[in-house]
Amino acid sequence: MTCFSIAIDGPAGSGKSTVARQVAKELGLTYVDTGAMYRAITWKALKQNVDLEDESSVARMSQETDIQLSSENGVDVWVDGIKVTNDIRTPQVTSNVSLIASQARVREILVDKQREIAQKTGVVMDGRDIGTHVLPKANLKIFLTASIEERAQRRHRELTQRGYSVDWDQLKEEIRLRDEKDSVREHSPLRPAEDAIHLDTTGLSIKEVVQAILNLSRTKAIGG
Ligand code: DC
Repeated sequence: MTCFSIAIDGPAGSGKSTVARQVAKELGLTYVDTGAMYRAITWKALKQNVDLEDESSVARMSQETDIQLSSENGVDVWVDGIKVTNDIRTPQVTSNVSLIASQARVREILVDKQREIAQKTGVVMDGRDIGTHVLPKANLKIFLTASIEERAQRRHRELTQRGYSVDWDQLKEEIRLRDEKDSVREHSPLRPAEDAIHLDTTGLSIKEVVQAILNLSRTKAIGG
């Protein structure tokens, strides 16, 4: 049986996770934050002092790691039974996650987990390669974008709310660099699927973006 699935891809700060979570809630689907999985592996590798450049060690560690995403609201994340919801969002994890996400074997392991979830239940899954690779047959594929200024503003708000002091120019440069790393990497780079619908969220409220996706998903659900 194939479950209904929505793939939402896009660069850092495009609003994917907030939007995807709300769309999932409205439609009664499970929200899967795949970025959180790459962050979880990065967090554990840093904690265990695994050499992040050593692909075999990172892959071995990933194979032995249990990652759980809360299926209720998709916000909480556990690694081997430890709640790491906040720990995976630190600047240290954020600056190292692209390196981990560029490694083919880690990606294979996490993609298997992501597909397993989508086979069992209807999902709204967000990431970079969901429409192109993880769920190529998703019922609806959305590619979210926003100007780099707007994306930096969103991250700035998010980080200051969590108590970090951030330098605006540095933040913008970090976002630009992460986009570049995620887009030029060899394995499953960030790019829209051919059949993805592009939505530029610059200047739009979350509510407006959610509504647009809900409208599109209703058309798809009735065979549009
Ligand atoms: O969405 P995010 O910022 O939490 O993602 C963290 C990193 O993981 C980001 O640098 C890109 C990578 N990622 C990926 O390569 N593929 C995915 N499906 C999701 C995230």
